[in-house]
Amino acid sequence: MTTHSTSASSRWSGPYLAVDGRPFLVVGAEVHNSSSSTPSAIADSFAAVRALGANTVLAPVAWDLFEPVEGHFDHTLVDAMIKQAQQLGMRLIPLWFGAYKNAVSTYAPGWVKTDSERFPRTQVADGQRIEQLTPFAPAARAADARAFGALMRRIHDVDTAGTVLAVQVENEMGLLGDSRDRSPLANAAFIADVPPGVIEAVATDTNMPLHQVWVDAGSRAEGAWSEVFGSGERVDEAFMAAAYAAYTEEVASAGASEHDVPLFVNAWLDHDSVLDGPVAVAGGKRPGQYPSGGPVMPVAAIWEAMAPTVDFLAPDMYIEDAEPVMAAYRARRGRLLIPELRADARGLAQMFSAIGTHQALGVSPFGVDVLRSDEPVGAALSDAYQLLRAAAVLIRQHAIAPVVGFELNAAQPSLSIDLGGSVLQVDTHSEWGPAPEYPGYGLAFEADGGVYVIGRGFWITLRGETGQEVSFLQADQYRLQGEQLVLSHRLNGDETSGGTLVPFPFAGAPLLPGRVIPTRIPDSGITHIRTYSY
Ligand code: DGJ
Repeated sequence: MTTHSTSASSRWSGPYLAVDGRPFLVVGAEVHNSSSSTPSAIADSFAAVRALGANTVLAPVAWDLFEPVEGHFDHTLVDAMIKQAQQLGMRLIPLWFGAYKNAVSTYAPGWVKTDSERFPRTQVADGQRIEQLTPFAPAARAADARAFGALMRRIHDVDTAGTVLAVQVENEMGLLGDSRDRSPLANAAFIADVPPGVIEAVATDTNMPLHQVWVDAGSRAEGAWSEVFGSGERVDEAFMAAAYAAYTEEVASAGASEHDVPLFVNAWLDHDSVLDGPVAVAGGKRPGQYPSGGPVMPVAAIWEAMAPTVDFLAPDMYIEDAEPVMAAYRARRGRLLIPELRADARGLAQMFSAIGTHQALGVSPFGVDVLRSDEPVGAALSDAYQLLRAAAVLIRQHAIAPVVGFELNAAQPSLSIDLGGSVLQVDTHSEWGPAPEYPGYGLAFEADGGVYVIGRGFWITLRGETGQEVSFLQADQYRLQGEQLVLSHRLNGDETSGGTLVPFPFAGAPLLPGRVIPTRIPDSGITHIRTYSY
């Protein structure tokens, strides 16, 4: 085994990943599960997300394709992914689909799948075996870790340009169909002593639901699971979280000793069920309805204690009420990446909020390699990518995070941004423009003596503090050209309704109806505003 050292500080720049010592905002796109399964699929899907405007591609590396024969690693696909991303000027975040992919083990190689003796299965109620390798089997863990180590070694050897920014370990781990594994190995672990790290995590994290359960059971410092915690779904969930996290730690540390980039795990969230047609793709209220033991908030402290090599936990965002979830994940390790989210209008608004309000290091809508920018969903995503890459330029140039991000909708059609002295009033209604389109979204940075506002679907007017009149000193519109912001218009006169507002319409706004003078509202969506008082 080789050890490569990179100082920890060089990986991060504030809440962001560091690239060449400066913050890099991941404006990401996760391709579909099978879109990196052949060299031609990689070429097509990577080109598609580049054409939409992403700066980073997230793509699976499947264990069965990487190690088709035990001990023989096929580098074809990972090499192609790195090369393709590099040629297209994108960064890459490989997703290691090892033994766990959405609570099943369908990406394990054939030699693992067909040897249940050596690689036993998880069992749920009534002893039913499911297509998941039990995390309690040492052989599966060791094999998965060895393969992940080989992947990271290959990345280390091939990726001399630093195209790979981070790596996801496994995918949406957890158990569906029961709250805990009931295989013989799992049952043996359940009557063995609780790992001390778990007890310490539960004792320390007073907010986790299991904390009170532990207190009620006598705040014991050692003992078997039922002695320390009693019984119930929350105990089962913690038991599975400890097992999956310990498994992940073995895999992650085998990789980390080969190549030093941030590692993370992603979570299928515990929330209201989200259906995609008849299939649940996220949510579920109880452990086992959502993957029990996955890296969700009720057991985040256990994950962090048992998998210290994992840098942060990341939520896959298919739910409506994203704000509290983003805040909770961001609060734990000071890092927020949304590796999967929706690419519709709801998802776009969530991306702005993640980056603006929660200083996310990145966002990445899922499955967008099938979108085209000449269709409405693809066009809107492509526009949002442009705006977020403009935000990436500002973050990188100024090494600052946005001061605010916002979504505007029927419940919140306007808001105020207080910027020391003047108040930016952000409204979706204006007599000047068309009817509001929801959601509107945006974010704001204080820089260069004013504020950059980036977004769609609103108007900005100004208010002064009591007794003061404020107005625009200047309102400069920018466009993204390559990785540069270039001045496109200096707004004034009619375009600001006589100096009273700055517009942020949706892209491609039509001519305003009923006007004597042909009027199309300037729509770059990126404006630097300076104000003054008189
Ligand atoms: C979440 C998973 O992590 C993805 O790989 C994908 O399967 C999506 N769900 C869509 O179903």
